[in-house]
Amino acid sequence: MQVLKNNGLIALQDLTKQDILDLLSHAKQFKDGLRKDTLNGRVIASCFFEASTRTRLSFESAVARLGGKTIGFADSGATSQANKGESFVDTLRMLNCYADGLIMRHPNDGAARLASEIMTIPVVNAGDGANQHPTQTLLDLFSIQDSQGQLDGVNLGLMGDLKYSRTIHSLISASKLFNMRLFLIAPPELRIESENLHELRRHGISYSFHSDASEVIDKLDCLYLTRLQKERFNGELDCNYGINLELLSRAKPNLRILHPLPRLDELPAAIDDTPYAYYFQQAQNGVYVRQALLDIIFGG
Ligand code: CP
Repeated sequence: MQVLKNNGLIALQDLTKQDILDLLSHAKQFKDGLRKDTLNGRVIASCFFEASTRTRLSFESAVARLGGKTIGFADSGATSQANKGESFVDTLRMLNCYADGLIMRHPNDGAARLASEIMTIPVVNAGDGANQHPTQTLLDLFSIQDSQGQLDGVNLGLMGDLKYSRTIHSLISASKLFNMRLFLIAPPELRIESENLHELRRHGISYSFHSDASEVIDKLDCLYLTRLQKERFNGELDCNYGINLELLSRAKPNLRILHPLPRLDELPAAIDDTPYAYYFQQAQNGVYVRQALLDIIFGG
């Protein structure tokens, strides 16, 4: 996976299907107890210009488990960029001086690509605006494979904010590689943009639109829910969607519910104790996948 060693990870499209499968298989080794100290003596900058709980902490956990140290910030409000007018590019140049790698989340689409062009150290995109969240997709794919035993041919429901959710955009991009059947479940205001559909058509991926999960619940292997991404649009959207225990009474026994979290009302806590709930395991899988990614980027 030379592309990872040279550049880090900016977008899922930078990886081949085989790259992804190799990475997932390496993540499984970490899940099964593999221990390595690949980052011993290395400093990784963990810089979050936008809020995060899971991505930042699972990355920092992965760095620590690989023997490395992190520097950085969880709140960019305390930086010289926010308070003294320093440019984003100069901030990146400073990080390039202090660290061996950068893990960055930023509210602007394309910020991670820009960083990778300016910096000489590997950059890992931890989410850029509404654009991509590639490591979330890797852990989502790991979770689908772990829960279903395969990726190819899985019936995948994508439900909620399909328009603004970067995890959805990245997962759709990956679904093309694994010939998944997609069920796109969203209120009209939150339907996916047509450019993503063009990509699906070009790759011969079957998909259908639904406004209610009850239309397809009995067909799904995985149901991937997302919250309304209120931070990505101005004004109010009056949309209500979600799942409940009654809906799940018609689900296949192998159905697993995934959610990148955080959740709002779309995923009630009453689901947590059902066999369908997989989202907390999914979050834990994030540590193994990020360990695998960093091990590949910085490994010998
Ligand atoms: N799934 C995810 O990206 O969560 P955070 O925003 O808490 O990192």
